[in-house]
Amino acid sequence: MTDHPPSPYAGPPRVFSGVQPSGALHLGNYLGALVKFVALQDQMECLFCVVDLHAITAWQDPAALAAQTREIAAAYVAAGVDPKKAIIFPQSAVREHADLAWILNCVARLGWLDRMTQFKEKSGKHKERASVGLYTYPVLQAADILLYKATHVPVGEDQKQHLELTRDIAAKFNHDFGAPGFFPLTEPLIEGPGARVMSLRDGLAKMSKSDPSDQSRINLTDDADAIAGKIRRAKTDPAPLPETVEGLKDRPEADNLVGLFAALSGQTKARVLETRGGQGFGAFKPALADLMVETLAPVTQNMRRLMADPAEIDRILADGSERARAIAAPILAETRKIVGYWPGS
Ligand code: TYM
Repeated sequence: MTDHPPSPYAGPPRVFSGVQPSGALHLGNYLGALVKFVALQDQMECLFCVVDLHAITAWQDPAALAAQTREIAAAYVAAGVDPKKAIIFPQSAVREHADLAWILNCVARLGWLDRMTQFKEKSGKHKERASVGLYTYPVLQAADILLYKATHVPVGEDQKQHLELTRDIAAKFNHDFGAPGFFPLTEPLIEGPGARVMSLRDGLAKMSKSDPSDQSRINLTDDADAIAGKIRRAKTDPAPLPETVEGLKDRPEADNLVGLFAALSGQTKARVLETRGGQGFGAFKPALADLMVETLAPVTQNMRRLMADPAEIDRILADGSERARAIAAPILAETRKIVGYWPGS
């Protein structure tokens, strides 16, 4: 995508990110997104959204959607996001998202969306049967971010292209409407060993909710036995762990498991290999499973406790929606003015 000159944006730093309420969360969501949310909440103003508008780009059972939304909010809090500090809210509670998305749909170019690899992956062989919403999904994502003039977006690596598109849309809006620096050119926060967690059955495929094999992923709802079993059965090669990161080249499964150990223990892969290089998977896998259980068990327990009290989650979401709206409304009002809508609207 386009390289833009440095942004003249001068507003305050602000974080926005979102997770879709479209199924159980897995370890990739936890390490690629939630862990970063927790670290950022003490550094900047943060908004963490449950993106239900995005979820309905693929069919969602209306009877289950609200419960799925509460579940993602519960996962945020269970992972350590403090609702007094960070703003936690459902996207559908702030109508401004859809309003800005329309404006940005008229800024984004068809050619830009045609290049989006996630649409190609998600629509599969029959793209004519995908919803129009799935196609314009990345524009709604840009609207989420720019509605709050967010400067930083913590996500996993699979979202990189959507964030580049967000920058392109912001730059074109600022340019076309003669409003330099109105929208920031948002920085993605992707780095770290948890940015791309791969399937436990195939080191070249991303860990994903949509993989038909449950053995391919660790769900945040898995208990200790399930986690230990999935790690024990995880695909590997027969060689012992190498002493250096270069030795992980062309060993995608080994690379993934070492990356998981690094992300869960807050170390680099190089550091893990300093102590574990030479070890066989017979010894490494149980150590990894223990670490995973130790890290995830408190999150899972907290999540269960929170899910047992939906009224408390609803209070958090209602309070977050109000705080989110207070930031979004004046930014949308200014955007509408820049576009030239009738002032009475
Ligand atoms: P979603 O719901 O698919 O995923 C939520 C977050 O989890 C990350 N993730 C991963 N990270 C590492 N390894 C993996 N295997 C893995 N799988 C998923 C995703 O990168 C994401 O950070 N389009 C977004 C939701 C969204 C959004 C936004 C994000 C909507 N508006 C605005 C940021 C800002 C998505 O589909 O996430």
